[in-house]
Amino acid sequence: MSTNRLFKSKVGLIAATVGSAVGLGNIWRFPAETQANGGAAFLLLYICCIFMLGISVMLAEFSLGRGGRSDSVTVFNKLSPGKSWWLVGAAGILASCLIACFYMVVEGWTLQYFWNSLTGDLYAGADLSNSAAADEFFTGKMTDYIFSPLQPVIFTALVILINLGVLMGGVQKGIERLSNVLMPVLFVVLVVLCCVTLSLPGASAGVEWFLSPDFSKITPMTVVNALGQCFFSLSLGMGILITYGAYYPSDTRLTRTSVIVACMTLLVALLVGFVIFPAVASFGLSDHSLRGVTLVFQTLPEVFARIPGTQLWSILFFFLLFAAALTSTVSSTEVIIAFLQDKFGMSRLKACCVALLPLLPCSALCSLSFSSLRGFTIFGLNLFDFLDTVSTNIMLPLVAIGVCVYIGWFAPRGLLKSQLSNEGTIRSRITGFVIFVVRYLAPVLIATILITNFI
Ligand code: PFF
Repeated sequence: MSTNRLFKSKVGLIAATVGSAVGLGNIWRFPAETQANGGAAFLLLYICCIFMLGISVMLAEFSLGRGGRSDSVTVFNKLSPGKSWWLVGAAGILASCLIACFYMVVEGWTLQYFWNSLTGDLYAGADLSNSAAADEFFTGKMTDYIFSPLQPVIFTALVILINLGVLMGGVQKGIERLSNVLMPVLFVVLVVLCCVTLSLPGASAGVEWFLSPDFSKITPMTVVNALGQCFFSLSLGMGILITYGAYYPSDTRLTRTSVIVACMTLLVALLVGFVIFPAVASFGLSDHSLRGVTLVFQTLPEVFARIPGTQLWSILFFFLLFAAALTSTVSSTEVIIAFLQDKFGMSRLKACCVALLPLLPCSALCSLSFSSLRGFTIFGLNLFDFLDTVSTNIMLPLVAIGVCVYIGWFAPRGLLKSQLSNEGTIRSRITGFVIFVVRYLAPVLIATILITNFI
């Protein structure tokens, strides 16, 4: 692999990996899951999942990528030629393609809201005289922006072209440079928003709710949801960490990197909690306002409309969301691009076009799931929800199990150990623990999620 496909600096590789991890999963999915699963009890479970399981699976993916130094399919062929393990990598690529299809649509919505915050259209003529009127106003906006056929398609196409522009720059000048700029900005914006919402009257009730665990709410399903959230938010099972692992220089300390990435991802989730829950508590918004699309595209604009500096906070928030989504989608499309470059020897430019241009019609169809194609369903789900369900609930766990079983039992002997110790040049104190998790704990627990999801 040529040196310009390696990350250039330690900060850059951490920024890029955190960029992939921090996305709509943390900013949007996390508060909704926390709210539905008992607040702090869910948070504690999520933290346990990250440290007991997530970091080890992450290390398995990094080791695989750096050990084979190629895309997520070729890596298996290189390490175990003539075997069928490459199918695990191929499933990861397929998962990345499917996720990119619907995630680009949501990224388009964030860009659209960012744009409409800038122009002021999102708040023009807002009626805040009572909560019913405000609800109606922002539901109307959501219908105009998201549930109409034309605008979402245009913005989805726009974000695909933005992704194309970044990815054509390559690993160092595209992905790494983008993450180096956007990640610090994202943290600053989040801290500023936190200060704003924490200073709202009545905010402390939200903080208290977020931080006081109600253990009676914990059910087997809560554990499954926390595990699912851990996997999605750390970008596990998508081939992303295998691909990024291949771009890590040989002296990168994998254990330290994975702990930093996990802690930063968790920090973002906590900060998001401190933005959302105090704000919702302060304005007495109802529980349903945290569900799905409503949280980000209706409840939060309503919150911003009620505080001084409406437009500024709205611009900052939707920029934050767009930045988080962009650094995630570049990582999932990089999985496809790396495959096209390594397997078919394509030039970077050609690989970028082949990976991204077919997403234009596919994502456009997905975005129509909420308007013209509303009546088109597969197993009772619209196209958007179908892709989301198949990739997140079925493919990610399957790929993660495949990677763990392969690394734990079938990969060349000592691969994990030698990667964690940089070929024996450094000490990694958690190697024994990681091997135990990858061999036993992770496959059993992930299989449990998969089966529970089916049921
Ligand atoms: N960790 C990412 C998130 O939480 O949003 C997962 C992800 C989703 C990565 C979609 C890449 C992607 F295109």
